[in-house]
Amino acid sequence: MKRFYVTTPIYYVNDLPHIGHAYTTVAADILARFHRLLGEEVFFLTGTDEHGQKVEKAAAERGRTPKDHADIMVENFRDLWRTLNISNDAFIRTTDGEHKAVVQELLQRLYEKGEIVKRPYKGWYCTPDERFWTEKEIRDGNCPDCGRPVEEIEEENYFFLMSRYAERLQQHIEQNPHYILPESRRNEVLGFLRAQPLGDLCISRPKKRLSWGIELPFDPDYVTYVWFDALINYFSATKYLSPGSLKEGWWPADHHIVGKDILTTHAVYWSTMLMALGMELPGNIFAHGWWTVDGKKMSKSLGNVVDPFKVSKEYGVDQFRYFLFREVTFGLDGDFSESAIIGRINSDLANDLGNLVSRTLSMAFRYFDGVVPQPVTLQGEIGDRAAQVPLRLKAHLDVLAFQKALGEIWEFLGMLNKFIDTEKPWALAKDPEKKKELERVIYTVLEGIRHIACFIAPFMPEAGEKMAEMLGLEGLVRPGVLSELRWGGLEPGTRLRKGEPLFPRIEKKREVPDMERETAGEVKKAERDDLISIDEFAKVELRTGKVLEAERVEGSSKLLRLIVDTGEKRQIVAGIGKSYSPEELVGKTVVVVANLKPAKLMGIESQGMLLAAGEGKDIAVLSPEREVKSGLRVK
Ligand code: MSP
Repeated sequence: MKRFYVTTPIYYVNDLPHIGHAYTTVAADILARFHRLLGEEVFFLTGTDEHGQKVEKAAAERGRTPKDHADIMVENFRDLWRTLNISNDAFIRTTDGEHKAVVQELLQRLYEKGEIVKRPYKGWYCTPDERFWTEKEIRDGNCPDCGRPVEEIEEENYFFLMSRYAERLQQHIEQNPHYILPESRRNEVLGFLRAQPLGDLCISRPKKRLSWGIELPFDPDYVTYVWFDALINYFSATKYLSPGSLKEGWWPADHHIVGKDILTTHAVYWSTMLMALGMELPGNIFAHGWWTVDGKKMSKSLGNVVDPFKVSKEYGVDQFRYFLFREVTFGLDGDFSESAIIGRINSDLANDLGNLVSRTLSMAFRYFDGVVPQPVTLQGEIGDRAAQVPLRLKAHLDVLAFQKALGEIWEFLGMLNKFIDTEKPWALAKDPEKKKELERVIYTVLEGIRHIACFIAPFMPEAGEKMAEMLGLEGLVRPGVLSELRWGGLEPGTRLRKGEPLFPRIEKKREVPDMERETAGEVKKAERDDLISIDEFAKVELRTGKVLEAERVEGSSKLLRLIVDTGEKRQIVAGIGKSYSPEELVGKTVVVVANLKPAKLMGIESQGMLLAAGEGKDIAVLSPEREVKSGLRVK
């Protein structure tokens, strides 16, 4: 059986989890779930980085031992992964005894091979960042990275002779175009390697300065540098945390997913460490971008850190997961805002996907009593496309192109939505001679939804399950399903189940930023000479009306022809077809401008107008807040 091994960085146990941690971990989760659905044996590893000065200091401030402090803090991460439906197979902590033993074993091996040597060392040390800088690198006595003061330290230390591997590393990156992705980051690393000779890496800290670390097996006066310890987690975990019965054979990893800020440590330190150990290199190191918030850098001091617990509670776990990977290309920076996530939920999830499922199920209940009909023929081109989707998803996900993978699924569901609109099952249902056709149409869409449930499950596991349940197919989303899916595999006679809407629309007023609010105020004073009197308003006759019939206007994606009862039946042509399907509108009470001069739209007379807000795909029709009679005057 093919194996697939994916990792996230191990997170500093001191930090509170934020959107950045959630981002990498959900990315790895999508890959892990996808490969399980392909039938592969998967090892998905995440965990925490628990040694080093920051943990030691934070613990001391709280009067705890570093380990007690870590034991408390680690729960924040475990909780978040449970909340976000993360399916990690293991959770490594660098304080695990087994991990420490592997780190010491590898250090000893490198030392015996002469890859680690002791040297006097003088340099500028940034305590908060736990790293040395050279004279040239520091800026006015401050750390070039965080800007805080550095101190000059002279001491003996152990060095890993990283410089020996500079050329081999460069060659490896050049010969393996997918080793570092995205390409822009690969070029950056190559540029860095070509620009200057690679130095050696100081991998020890004297215990007198830092004791919270793994002791060097060949010198008890030192502990190892926290990055040296941390990077080894990817290998040590395969020794004691891998799933399944076979314990060997998990190394190397297929993907290390990391943020762009920690690419060098992975691409350079980790790769050369493995070379020196004579071990295989991972298949790929992928550096993703950073999230900003409303266009600003996320930081504790600005108080704008996005809390993934809060966002997923407010908008839904699947919704949050979807947003992270649909909104921006993995590898580029992205901007988080409430309006962006609401926009995605309403257009892609509520409108495209949620609507497809709800209208199909309601038709299946209306026309076939909620039982999957038996089609005489299958819909060819939709089936062909469905069969291609898993392969296309694989091609995209092999290079972590999550956005393209989602685009692929959305194209397929777009095909189904269009199919419904052109086949018009509601019209077929009126003609008893078209029963066979109606069966074919409803079966095709239900079968398409069964496929979509499997396609989206890695991204939105709950929605995948819920869709399967609605189809009466619990257990559909199981290991291997993506390799076994067959068009036409949905059993006629299967009993469907009505469910809650998958993705309710989110109605939220857009907050007006301060700037806009001020300008709006000025406009009011200076330019509002267009006010109308109450009498003028009273000339507009607004009435409630119940939609009796609705259908799409042929040749238009926007226009719907409605028959509305406003005390009298009238025909109204409304440009809301991108936001509403005809079935959704039937039975709804709306507000109509009843004394508008009739006009022709695409040759069809419209006797009035519907009130609605928004544009394009985001139109919301106005409807009285509770059930009222048709024909009432709205004032
Ligand atoms: N402990 C190291 C990793 C060791 S791996 C052997 C570490 N930990 S961390 O807690 O700081 O990791 C944070 C991860 O979150 C990094 O991948 C980083 O890129 C990512 N992010 C931190 N802020 C981020 C954003 N604003 N946006 C996206 N990701 C960000 O580094």
